[in-house]
Formats: sequence, C-alpha cells, structure tokens
Amino acid sequence: MCGIVGYIGRRNVSNVIMVGLERLEYRGYDSCGIATVSKTKDNGRIQIRKTAGRLQQLKEILDRDPLNGVIGIGHTRWATHGKVTDENAHPFTDNSRTVALVHNGIIENYREIRAGLKKKGCRFVSTTDTEVIVHLLASYYLAGKRRDMVSAIRKTAAKLRGAYALAVVSTLEPDRLYAVKTGSPLVIGQGQNEYVLASDAPALIGIAKRMLPLQDGEVAVMTARGVSVTDLKGRKVDHQFSKLELKEKAITKGRYPHFMRKEIFEQPGVIRSNIARRFRGRNILMDPEFLLYPDEVEHTRRIVIQACGTSYHAGLIGRYYFEKFCRLPVSVEISSELRTSEFIYDGETLMLPISQSGETADTLAALREAAVREIRSLAVLNVRRSSIDREADSTVYIHAGPEIGVASTKAYTAQIFTLLVLALYFAHIRAEQGCKGSMTRREFAEVVRAASRLPDQMRRVLSLDRQILEVARKLSAAHDFLFLGRGINYPTALEGALKLKEISYVHATGYPAGEMKHGPISLVAEGVPVIGIAPKDSVYQKMLSNLAEAKARNGRIIAVGTAGDRDLAELAEEVFYVPKTPEYLSPILAALPLQLLAYHIAVLRGCDVDKPRNLAKSVTVE
Ligand code: G6P
Repeated sequence: MCGIVGYIGRRNVSNVIMVGLERLEYRGYDSCGIATVSKTKDNGRIQIRKTAGRLQQLKEILDRDPLNGVIGIGHTRWATHGKVTDENAHPFTDNSRTVALVHNGIIENYREIRAGLKKKGCRFVSTTDTEVIVHLLASYYLAGKRRDMVSAIRKTAAKLRGAYALAVVSTLEPDRLYAVKTGSPLVIGQGQNEYVLASDAPALIGIAKRMLPLQDGEVAVMTARGVSVTDLKGRKVDHQFSKLELKEKAITKGRYPHFMRKEIFEQPGVIRSNIARRFRGRNILMDPEFLLYPDEVEHTRRIVIQACGTSYHAGLIGRYYFEKFCRLPVSVEISSELRTSEFIYDGETLMLPISQSGETADTLAALREAAVREIRSLAVLNVRRSSIDREADSTVYIHAGPEIGVASTKAYTAQIFTLLVLALYFAHIRAEQGCKGSMTRREFAEVVRAASRLPDQMRRVLSLDRQILEVARKLSAAHDFLFLGRGINYPTALEGALKLKEISYVHATGYPAGEMKHGPISLVAEGVPVIGIAPKDSVYQKMLSNLAEAKARNGRIIAVGTAGDRDLAELAEEVFYVPKTPEYLSPILAALPLQLLAYHIAVLRGCDVDKPRNLAKSVTVE
C-alpha cells in the first residue's frame, strides 16, 4: 500500500508528481504530500506541501502555495503506523532538512532504531515507522566529509527490517534522484532527458516510453541524462529497459463515472479476448511464462490454492474446476491463515497463488513458505513483473488489463475463466497420459463451445443495469443483507456480500444456503433482503427450499436465476435473469448482477465507489 512517485526533468515537477499520485491513489488515500528541490546559489532547498486527506486537498494547497524545483518526490498514504494526520503524511526530512524521502512499505524494527536515534539527539515529528529511515540515512550521509548518498543508502538498508521502496532527494545534490527497494515494488520510466519513478507503471504513462522494474536490493541514481543501478554490495547491474505497453485509455475512466462501472462493463471484452488467446482448435495455449512441464502436471497429486479477498473467492470456484475436470483434490486457503498454519503440504502438491496485483503481502509470504519446502508454484496473476510473478516458479496471466477500482470486478471473472482454462489444460495432459477419470475430447469441445458463448451472454446480463438500479433504490436503506448460494455458487454469494460491504459500508453476509438453519436464519426478519443465487443447476431445488424458508420468515427475496424460470419469479420479489449456461460457467454470469447491485447501492448511499474508506487495492502489509 501507499504509492510513491519521483521525477527529474524539465517539466513542471509538482504537476508531474500530482498526475502520478492520482494514478496511484488506488494504493491508499489517507494523506498525501510532495517535496521538491529547487536550486539555490549554493545548493538546493527542499520545499514540502503535505496534508491528511485526498489529493484534492493537496491540489488546493498547491494552488495557493505552488512549488517549484527541478526534481521532486510524492506520496499517497495508506496509514499503517501512526494516525491519519498532517504530521504523519510523507515526505519526511531529517532535522537539518538536507534529505527528504517518501516510503512505501513497513519497517518492522523501527522502534529500536528510533530509540537509538533519539539518544543521539534526533527530533521526531511524526509517529510513523518511515521517519526513522530519513534520520538514519541522513546520519550516514552527513557523517563524513564526502557526501556519498549511495553508500548511505546501503548502510541504511543494512539496518532496516521489513519492506520498503524509497525515493530520496538531497539539497546537496539537486540534480539527482535516488531510489532503492526491498519487498515493495518500484519501476523507473525513461522519457526524453527525464526519469519518472513510481510504485506502479500507470504513473509513468505520458512521460516514459520505456520502463525498468527495480529488483530487491537495487539502488538507482537518476540524473536528467541517465540512470545507474547497483546492487547492495555496490556491483553495477546491467539493466534493460523494456517498452511501456500500457496505454492511457486503459487507465482513464472515459465516459464512465467510476472505474468500477467501467471495469464491470469491460468484462465481456476481457473474456472474449481470453477465449481468443487460450483456445486454438483442440489445444489450449498458455503464456510463455507458463513453465510447468507436462510430467509435472501429471505428477501433481494435490493442489493448494491460496489467495485473499476476491481472489480467494475465485479460488473457491477454481477448486470445482480441478475436482470436476481433473479429479484432483484441492484445498483453498486464505493466504494469511495458510502462512501461519502447520503447512503440511509436500512436493507432490502444486501451489496456486491467485492475485490481481501480484503484490499482496500475505499471498507472497505463503508462496515463500512453499518455496522453502520445495513445493512448486504456479501463480494466477493480472500484473506482470509483480513480486509474486518474479517469485513463483511459473505464471498464468488473467489478461484483464489494469484494474483501478478498489473493488475487484473484471479481475474476478477473468480469474475464474483462467482457472477454468488451467483445469482444462491439466485435464488435457492427464487424459494424454491416460490418467483415470480424465475428460474426453468431446467433453472438452463442449466446454469450449459453451465458454465461447459467454461474452454475448455477459453483455445480456449487463443490460439488466436499469432493473438492477431500480432494485438498488428499493434496498439502499437496508442495514443487513444475506447472500445465499450453494455448490459452485456458494463463492458467488461470498463475493456478492463482499462487493456490497466493501463499497457501501452496509453489513452483508454470504453463506452456503444449506447452513442457514444452523444460525443465520435467525437474522431473517421483516424486510431483510435475502439475495439468493439460484440458477437451474444441480442444487436448484434445494436453493428454492432455502429461499422459501427465508420468505416464510418475511425476508425480501431477490434472486439471480436462469432465464425463463417461473417458479423463482413466484418466490422472489425480483429476479435478475441470466442466460442458460452449464453449471460450471454460471458463477461468471451470476457475478455480474451482484457487482451492479453493489455499485448502485453504494452510489445511492453517496459512497466513494472507487476509493472506499479504509481500503486499498494493493495490500502490501501483513
Ligand atoms: C484487497 C482488494 C481486493 C482484493 C484483495 C486481494 O483487499 O481491495 O479487491 O481482492 O486485496 O488482492 P490481490 O491483488 O492479491 O488479488
């Protein structure tokens, strides 16, 4: 969490940094700030503007009190250590105001460093973990006669425990921008006689044509003319910039009022392009980063999926695919729980970390646990060159394009689709090896045919938008929602509830409908909305009974059902009808009305849909 930006070049520094920060706001928006270094006769001068609250507030401050300078750094914060206050906003400087820095990450041993620095007379102005870095760095930097920032950064890094990406400036070197990272992401963008530095590639667009992701332990020094990268031992790193593929259109809202809405409506296109990319006749095509050999697939005896949030829900659906098509036992774990568990998996297990961002700290930590035990891993990711991408043995991408709304939508359906593709790929190989119970070619062709209909079917579901808005109007004042599903759509219920609570701050619980009578049915009372996911599948009749039980207790039944289902219409106050599709594809269609329902309720309640309170898109803290 937190986003950092740095810039050196001829453009208006604070404008460039503000644009970069806007694009990183998804990483946190508790406070923000900018520091620039302007050249003076002798050296340079650091100027800082920072504030608790959103970028709009910083913009107003800058309008009243602009910043000039040739070089600058900026920060948008998701608070970890220290409350959301002006004092705790980045950038920070040392007591002599020679060095300023911004930080993304967490310093675990900051208390002991702080105590040591205080003894030496350092004055602290904040309660953050970050402030220790700037004092420590300045103490090394200003110690000798020769000011050597790179060596000071190395010495500082040797003392820090935890994760950090830092952008650093100094008044003594107003033509140099420094960066270092361990654990947190950082990319350098190269423009024309200019460099921009950021936590994520979208902040580079418009300036950089080429980009370089910094690796852990690397220190970069940028001037307007060039960049040099060394490792923590001081050895020169031979770096290669690659073309920045991202286009501005992919990261702007266009005609949509919110990123979330744009991303919901992008889903048919994402699935369509995935179909074209993955299915070729009887073959399934994988990305070049897919490095799992057929014999490794064949020798996999067990799969453990691990993920957080929405990605975890996609993983629950993935389990059905591997069990159904490959007859492989699968467990699905919440990353933060798995990493601290007994971890009894062995070398015959394949780990599938699922993550949109590829940066989620708990997912990464559980992946590292697997690596220590020599368990192979195959990551399911959206963001290339992310930390999980680098550390997993192999990767399959979901190709959803940048997802900016904090509530995940298009990544979710793309994850489900990709897990289906993966399961089919495994089934294919296992069939070739003559494994028991594997699917036939005819079955495979049927799945591909049914999947190919998805984009049009999804478009039809999205055309229910008006109906869903009307239902949202009726429900927007409710305080508690119950989402019920069974079988493959139990995760759909969990995801529907998560979407609603995360963006509208309404309490919502997802439950397996069969468990209702063991507790949650006591929540059903006059007017409580009960959202039932009840397509015509193998558990349909049971779902109907469960919804009838809720109705008998005066719950308001809203259902997602299969087109033409009259029985459901009799039972429910409203039905969002989705086209008929095989059971295993129904979660992709059923997710859409629930995303739209959450979206409309949040908008009607006046919530900030793309930036819900207390949340961040990329959770890089444990
Ligand atoms: C955060 C986001 C969720 C996301 C989860 C896991 O909580 O707000 O939308 O599902 O992190 O993120 P990942 O990037 O690992 O999928």
